[in-house]
Amino acid sequence: MRLKVITSNPGKVEEFRREFADWGVEMEHAHIPYDEIQTSELEEVVKAGMEELRSSGLRDFIIDDSGMFVDALKGFPGVYSSYVQKTVGNAGVLRLMEDVSERGAEFRCCIGCDIDGETVIVTGVCRGTILREARGDGGFGYDPIFSPDGERSFAEMPLDEKNAVSHRGNAFRLLKDRLRDLGLSDTD
Ligand code: IMP
Repeated sequence: MRLKVITSNPGKVEEFRREFADWGVEMEHAHIPYDEIQTSELEEVVKAGMEELRSSGLRDFIIDDSGMFVDALKGFPGVYSSYVQKTVGNAGVLRLMEDVSERGAEFRCCIGCDIDGETVIVTGVCRGTILREARGDGGFGYDPIFSPDGERSFAEMPLDEKNAVSHRGNAFRLLKDRLRDLGLSDTD
């Protein structure tokens, strides 16, 4: 079985390869552009992307989309996470949250997989809080300002500890469960 991982980020392909190393699934990096529709829901973006790619004749592929949703900002930056990170960055989000005491937020990661004629869409979530200041040197993006336990930021955690609770780790676990349910696992 071979799946095309459609992304501009080679790091993601590596992550899929690692996760599915013992499944006998070959992950191939593919750059195929598709529209990211304007909506506040990651699932809608992924669903529309999958429909567009399927209607162009593509089969056996994976796409994904993630973002950070802050409760007090009504879910912002959400689907705009990448743009907000590139423009105002963590300092901009901390500024928006300066006088806000309600600090709840969540990361979400939505993965869409077209495999063997089946379409599987899963969303992994990780709840936590926005810290008062950026902490830690690890990770990327919003990692320094997000904490899953109110103590350490994602940027202060070793990667395997982050993956054990992260939105992406949870999405991988859900995807594997669904593929096993469909009888598409080589391992059991
Ligand atoms: P993508 O869809 O996985 O490329 O994620 C979109 C944006 O969300 C990224 O550019 C990051 O700013 C942010 N993001 C997604 N996942 C994470 C994470 O695990 N840590 C920090 N930021 C993240």
